[in-house]
Order: sequence, then structure tokens, then C-alpha cells
Amino acid sequence: MQARLTVLAVAALGLAGCGGPTISVPSGAQPPPPGTYSRPLGMAVQEPAAEEDEGYVRDFVTTATSLTPENELKWAIVHPEPSRYDFGPADDLVDLAQRTGKRVRGHTLVWDQELPAWVTNRTWTPDALRAALVEHIKTVVGHLRGKVASWDVVNEPFSDDGNLKPDLFLRVLGPSYIETALRAARAADPDAKLFINELAAERPGPKRAALLGLAAQLRGGGVPLDGIGLQDHTTLDGAPSQADLEDTMNRIAGLGLDVELSEVDVAIPLATATTPAVLDQQAQVYGAQASACAAVARCTGMTVWGVDDRWSWLGAVKRPLLFDAAAQQKPALAAVRTALRG
Ligand code: XIL
Repeated sequence: MQARLTVLAVAALGLAGCGGPTISVPSGAQPPPPGTYSRPLGMAVQEPAAEEDEGYVRDFVTTATSLTPENELKWAIVHPEPSRYDFGPADDLVDLAQRTGKRVRGHTLVWDQELPAWVTNRTWTPDALRAALVEHIKTVVGHLRGKVASWDVVNEPFSDDGNLKPDLFLRVLGPSYIETALRAARAADPDAKLFINELAAERPGPKRAALLGLAAQLRGGGVPLDGIGLQDHTTLDGAPSQADLEDTMNRIAGLGLDVELSEVDVAIPLATATTPAVLDQQAQVYGAQASACAAVARCTGMTVWGVDDRWSWLGAVKRPLLFDAAAQQKPALAAVRTALRG
């Protein structure tokens, strides 16, 4: 009996994440009060940064209302071997989100990048790859069932010319891999909103046209698709105008879909010094992206791809985020707050 109780106690501790949160929330860090924003303001969060850097966690907790695990749900990290899943880092982030009242976006289930060697090195038959894909989605989405508001089910499926990328999934399964993935995600968590997430499709062009065409076709065929994510990684001089963004988002809404600005950052060219004028220009770009979201009823939120410049995937030298490398707020934050105010 004693041994049985011990086993149960250990199992319960394991479920609770080995005895407590691994990411501490700095004392006094209060989440934004309800009603601060008209739409969720999200940030991509990385577990290593959140464990090491208190300023990073403070800025996230006090500013954002939504969290996207930046890498922790990518196939190579969460499912590194055929029969081994490692949910630890993702669970830590979801736990942080739950403790601080944030929505969670799941990122991402099918992508041609950040795949483990066991997926990329094998010669697959269509049946075997389809089964592996469905099992992966079923397990990852099922593990987080009820905790994730929306999933980027398929990430970056298109080439710039508007053709589906000739990646492993397309080569082995043909275009039906997208439908297979969406149906598997729906079955694993019927309440999660399912997105296709794409980069550089914010403006008119072959990629946007193909994405809208695919979305219309999937909707018409009864395939479970709820929204389109526009990544909106951009630069100081190359950002889509508010008008272009609104036009694209309205076209997506016109198909009966939600739309999210899912990975926004605004990189400053290396040669450009950090002057007040440059930071104001960056604030204007951010303000325009956020204003576009606020103007479209079906825009479900804007997620910035990181918390502060120190930890940005682009490198601190690009200064692309709302907080600087010393975790201090930049003019861009005020612009976003104004555009998204509740
Ligand atoms: C990036 C992360 O930010 C980096 O930390 C990682 O090394 C590579 O991936 N589009 C996407 C994101 O959909 O998953 C990418 O994230 C950035 C581009």
C-alpha cells in the first residue's frame, strides 16, 4: 500500500511539472487589466530567455495578453525521436501563460523547417508519412487540448511564386497534406481555432492570391480551417501599408475566416543609428500594423515575434521589437498600445 501511494504521489508530482513552475514571475509584475486592449496583444516567448532573464518575463507579463511558444512546439523540439515527445519546455510556457492569464497560440504542426532528422532522413511511403503526421498532430494537439486557443497548423506552405513549396510533405503526400493536417488537428481539439500561417503574403501578389485561393477551396470543401495568420515580419522601410494590410485582412474575413498578425517585427537596418527619429519611425510602422488589426472585426490579435531586442531571432542589432536590449520600452510600444486600446 505504501509503495502504491508513493508511486501515485510521484505520478501526481510529475503531472504538476516536477513540483512547481520553472519560470518565476517577478514580484509586482501585474498583467494588463481586462479591457486594456481591443484585441489580444501577443508575444513569442522562448523558454531559455524566460528562465534566465527577469526583465524579459516582467515585460511579457505586464504588456502581453497572449503567448506563442517561439520554438518549443516545433517538431524537432517536441518530438525529437519517433517514439519520444518532450513536452517539458512547452508545458513550462503554457503554465506561465495560465498563471498570468494569457491566451496561448500553438506554433506549429507542419513546417518544412525545424524537422528532426528521423523525419527528414527517411525515405517515406505516402502511407507511412501520413500516419506519422497524423500521430504527431494527434499527440501534440491532444496533449494541450483545452489550453490552446488557436494553432498554426500549417506554416509557410507557399513559395513566393504562389506554388506550394516542394517540401517533404508536398513531395510525398501531394497538396492533400494540408487537409490531412487540419482534420487531424480538429479531431484532437475540436475547440481550438485552426490557422494556416504564411509569411510575406500581406500585400497583393502571387503568394497572397494563392493563399486566398487555397483558403477558399478548403472552406468550400468543408475542411476545418478557421483563420489565416499573416506573419508580417517586416522592416522600417519595407512594411506593408495600413491600407494594404486592411485590404488583405478584409479579403480573408470575406471568406468567413479569422485573421491574426502572427509574428510581427520591424527590423531597423544595421547601418541606421538608433536616433529618436528612427525609433519614432519604427513606432509609426508598428502603429500602422496594429491599427490595421483594430480596424478589421475578424482580426483576432497581433502577436509580436519576441519580447525584447536582446532575445530577438534577428539579433539585437536589428532592434526589431517593442522593448530594447536592456528590456526598456521603446516608442513602438506606446504606438501599439494606442492603436489597440480597448
Ligand atoms: C524562429 C525563431 O524565432 C528562432 O528562435 C528559431 O531559431 C528559428 O525560428 N517564421 C516562423 C517562426 O514561423 O517559427 C520563426 O521563428 C521565424 C520565421
